[in-house]
This record gives sequence, C-alpha cells and structure tokens, in this order.
Amino acid sequence: MLRFLTAILFTLGLTLSAAAQTTGDTAEPDRAQTGGATTLEDILARQRGEKVDNSYRSENTGQGNVEGLLGQFGPSGVASDSDVYRQLRYGSADVTVSSNGPADSVLIQDGGMWWWAFRTGPLREYGTYILGGMLAIIILFFLLRGRIRIDGDKTGRTVTRFNSFERFGHWLFAGSFLILGITGLLTLYGRDFLIPLFGKEGFATIAQACKWLHNNLAWAFMLGLIIVTLNWIAHNIPNRTDLKWLAAGGGLFTKGSHPPARKFNAGQKIIFWSCILLGISISLSGLSLLFPFELPMFAKTFAIANSTGIPQMFGLNLPVQMSPQEEMQYAQVWHVMVAYVFIAIIIAHIYLGSVGMEGAFDAMGTGEVEEQWAREHHSLWLEEVHEKEAGKAATSPAE
Ligand code: HEM
Repeated sequence: MLRFLTAILFTLGLTLSAAAQTTGDTAEPDRAQTGGATTLEDILARQRGEKVDNSYRSENTGQGNVEGLLGQFGPSGVASDSDVYRQLRYGSADVTVSSNGPADSVLIQDGGMWWWAFRTGPLREYGTYILGGMLAIIILFFLLRGRIRIDGDKTGRTVTRFNSFERFGHWLFAGSFLILGITGLLTLYGRDFLIPLFGKEGFATIAQACKWLHNNLAWAFMLGLIIVTLNWIAHNIPNRTDLKWLAAGGGLFTKGSHPPARKFNAGQKIIFWSCILLGISISLSGLSLLFPFELPMFAKTFAIANSTGIPQMFGLNLPVQMSPQEEMQYAQVWHVMVAYVFIAIIIAHIYLGSVGMEGAFDAMGTGEVEEQWAREHHSLWLEEVHEKEAGKAATSPAE
C-alpha cells in the first residue's frame, strides 16, 4: 500500500516536473541589441515550448521600489513600467494593497500558465487513459472469465453478512462518492461536450449545480469514510491467510478455486485500504480547495518529502516556497489525480460487487447472503458465524 502511494506521489512529482520544465536545449541569445531585454529569439523559443532562462528578467527589476514609483509611471521615471511589471511578475514588488486575503499581494502569478496547460492537457489525457484502461480490463476479464457463479448447490439458507449500520455507512460513502465522481468529471470535461449539446447558458446551469453538489456532498463522503473506517478497520488487518489467498489469485481466474478467507479477503483489504488512504487524501486536498488560501498544505508536505531525500533520488527537488495561488494549483492537480486512481479502483469494485459475481450484491442489498456463497468466498468467516451461533444456542435457556 505504502509503495502504491509512493508511486502515486512520484508519478505526480515526475509529471509536474515534466509539465513545469519545458523541453529543449537553447543557446543563450545575444541580448545586446535589445539592451538586455527580451529578444525575438526568446519569444520564438518560448513559443516553441523550449526552456527559456528568465533570470535576465527576474533579476533585472529596476532600482527603485514600487511605492516610490507609483507616482511616476512612464519611461522617464527612476525605473520604467517594465521594471515594475517585472517586479510584479517575479514576486519581488513590495505591494501594499487593501487586502481581502493572503493571495491579494500576488498580482501576477506566472505559474498559473503551467497549471492551466497541465490541467487541460496531460492531466486529463493520462486520467482518461487510467479510466479507459480499467474499463478495458474489466471488459476483457468479463469476456475471459464470465460471471463468477456460485459453484456448489445453493442451500436455500442465508447468513447475515452486514448489519443495517454497516450498509448505511457503505451506501453513504458509495452514494456520495458516485455523485462526487460524476460532478467532478463533468467539471473537468463538461465544457467540451455539454456546451455543444446545451449551449453556454445550459452548461452554466449544469456547472453551477455540479459545483453545489460537489461542495456539499463532500461532507457526506467524509462522514461515510469515518463510519466505514470504524466499522471495518479491525477486519482489514492483513494476516497470513491473505498471502495464501493472493497466491491462489483469489480464485478469480480459475473456476472452482476457493481460497479460504475471513470476513474480508486480501483483494477486499486492498480495496478497503485504498478507499481509506485515497479517501483521506482526496478529503484533505478537497478541504484545501473548499476554503481557498486558508489550508495550504503542499509546501509543508514537499518540505517533509524533500527531507527524506527520496524525491532527490528521482532527480526531483520539490518546491517548498509557493505563492498562495500555487498552493491551490497543487491542491487541484493532486485532488484530480487521486480521484482518477480512486475512480478506476472503484470501477473494478462495482463490477465485482454487482454483475461480476453471483450473490455478492445481496451482501450490501439486503445484508443476507446465500450460505453456499459465504462458504465459497469467506469460508473462515462462515465457520466463525456458525461457532458464534452454536455458542449462543448453548447458552440460551431451553424452550
Ligand atoms: C454502485 C456501486 C457499488 C456497489 C454495487 C458496491 C457493492 C459492494 C458490495 C456487494 C460489498 C460487499 C462485498 C462482500 O460482501 O464481501 C461492498 C463492500 C465495500 N464497498 Fe462497495 N459498492 C459500490 C460502491 C462503492 C464505493 C463508491 C465505495 C467507496 C468509495 C465502496 C467501498 C466499499 C468498501 C470499502 C467495501 C468493503 C471492502 C470490500 O468489500 O471490498 N463501494 N461493496
């Protein structure tokens, strides 16, 4: 699990760094003709997407300070307008504004461009591959394996698998997740196909509804996350049975193979811990987005990550100083990346919990499962249930 999360972190890091650093080697242009200012070659290189060393601008922001210059904007001042704009752009201007919040002192945020390009480009592109890839795997699995049936004869008896509180927790978590997923994806992709379908006005109404649902159902999701964690954490501690279950591929790929499992098998434990860890991560980044600039967490997280030395092993040095806007950009990018992985995992879960396996849905529907289903998929748990029942029968007074 830890390895899985580390992989996500470094995928994020690698992708961000790839997005942040444009490619290509460029020779230093001769700026003597422009008096040290931007040349045509600089502009063309930037347009070609090459890396342009901006230090000749960021370190050349004039002699005076902004306050001293405010009354004398124009080419004849102590410094020119372009000096002032360079100071503003590279964050060295001493800006005093009547402030409504921490982000107000940053008037030009250069990093917004890579974020915008990343959000509308690679983030969506790779995210679509993740979701499409998972759907393709599920379809292939269905074609090769078909529906996993109950192999033995049904007994006609049922066992209580989940009580009503367990099912309430699951459906609160799952229901809110599904709406959050749909409204989130509509926010990310909606413009492209909803505007042609419903026009700009129609899209605006849909987008507003999505935003309202997304912001408010986040609380139901977090409550569901807490209930699911409290209900099932004790049943999801890994043990040796899980290794045997995994070694047998969970019996998923071979008809008639039923490795023993307790209440949750190793596959379900992977789903459970993914839900908990991804759920916490998506909730934290979501809260950061819900309360803009008030819950910055990325600079601190990156500082901790850098101090482990692990990012450096991958050639990364994560930024530890960020403008408030940059914090929000990282929160948005992380939130969406976690969402893609989470949704992909849940697609597999939904398949196995419904059409993919005969008898599974009853566990979360009525809470009662066919005894033969329980014997095939959770034999050790069924034994525990029978032992408990036998214990109860022995202690209850005879009729
Ligand atoms: C329509 C959608 C869904 C269906 C049909 C469904 C079905 C099920 C079923 C049948 C089980 C019990 C399996 C058993 O008895 O062994 C289960 C368990 C569980 N579900 Fe769902 N589920 C859905 C959506 C979700 C979502 C969206 C989440 C999380 C965001 C989720 C999280 C869990 C967890 C953590 C468990 C316990 C571990 C496991 O069985 O994998 N479910 N679900």
